[in-house]
Amino acid sequence: MPAEEKYAAELAYLASVDKDPRPFAWRLSPRMIRTFILGAGPGDSFDRPIAQKFFGDASLVERAIVTLASDRGLLLIGDPGTGKSWLAELLAAATSGNSTHVVQGTAGTTEDHIKYSWNVAMVIAGGQSRESMIPSPIMTAMQRGEMGRFEELTRCGSDVQDALISILSEKYITIPELRGDESVVYAKPGFNMIATANSRDRGVNELSTALKRRFNFVTIPIVTNKKSEKEIVLFRTRELMARHTISVDVPPTMLDILLQTFADLREATANTASEDQRLESSLSTAEQIGVLEDALLHSNFFGDKALQPGTLARSLVGTLVRRVPEDVSILNKFWHASATETEGVKKRKKGEEAATSAAPKSDKSPEWEAFVAGGKQALTSFK
Ligand SMILES: Nc1ncnc2c1ncn2[C@@H]1O[C@H](COP(=O)(O)OP(=O)(O)OP(=O)(O)O)[C@@H](O)[C@H]1O
Ligand SMILES: [Mg+2]
Repeated sequence: MPAEEKYAAELAYLASVDKDPRPFAWRLSPRMIRTFILGAGPGDSFDRPIAQKFFGDASLVERAIVTLASDRGLLLIGDPGTGKSWLAELLAAATSGNSTHVVQGTAGTTEDHIKYSWNVAMVIAGGQSRESMIPSPIMTAMQRGEMGRFEELTRCGSDVQDALISILSEKYITIPELRGDESVVYAKPGFNMIATANSRDRGVNELSTALKRRFNFVTIPIVTNKKSEKEIVLFRTRELMARHTISVDVPPTMLDILLQTFADLREATANTASEDQRLESSLSTAEQIGVLEDALLHSNFFGDKALQPGTLARSLVGTLVRRVPEDVSILNKFWHASATETEGVKKRKKGEEAATSAAPKSDKSPEWEAFVAGGKQALTSFK
């Protein structure tokens, strides 16, 4: 469900109390868009809760909003799973009330995908006309003065990038097959582009300087702060549970085990020199959400009322193993180390936390033991 539908009531409410001027035909003022995305602050007095939807720097979100009101497109750059597409969707929903004018960039994306194509049957029957033309999502966004989205911009070839340059600078698309007024589609004010690019893809298809100039770049950092990460995971989990009407309980210890395991895996990854000793997975927040989703759905369909450590471990293994046997062997090593080096882990944790706090029970708790055992068990299935 697109964000504008999921949050329809919230968006309508914010529009109804919005007193600030709105650029173009935007649904909300820039301030309200910020509130919609980052949630209501303590100084706001709204009659209903406005939840935080994107977790990140306010200045980053503000810069994105300002860009959308300017002549330049917005390019969100970051590692996989940092929430680029999610932020793009929220921005489009809040400005245009429509986040679905999306083109997915791939090596196979052609100019047609971003301009227009033809309904062949209609062309044969009645010739080329506006009726037999199929506008691309971007052309539709232009006609309606809404946000067009372009996912994974860096993945497509230079001809597509060149076509985008003209869309972003001239703000019209010509249709040479048609005559007169029919032969050009102008963008209504309010049209702009929100593109995303994966920083790991960069260099595969370096953007041309001409295209770069037409975008403001906003870099989305990886969330490394455990508290924010926990909030993101929780936020997403609650949404998922509502969507599936899942009533599985997620004990706080389970969440801690998940977050800690990812932190440990990231640390282990950072400490290995060779590329083939690293999991293919980016170990992003999105991957954590994926693991928890999988575990929750599994519990909901086949299991208990509360999330069990073994289920979580199996989901983790299932989600992170992409290459057999490489990933299996990396996880095996990790898991055996975490079982035998409990003392080391403990020491490190003690150093991190206040010395006075009760010794972290994590590594010795029955949940941890069940989790580790479940993981080892799951790994034996890849033979
Ligand atoms: N900072 C964040 N705030 C809120 N949710 C986040 C954040 N980072 C990640 N997520 C969640 O992670 C999920 C995946 O994020 P998303 O698909 O937007 O990542 P992406 O950066 O587009 O990744 P990719 O480069 O692989 O396309 C989203 O559903 C989102 O809910
Ligand atoms: Mg994405």
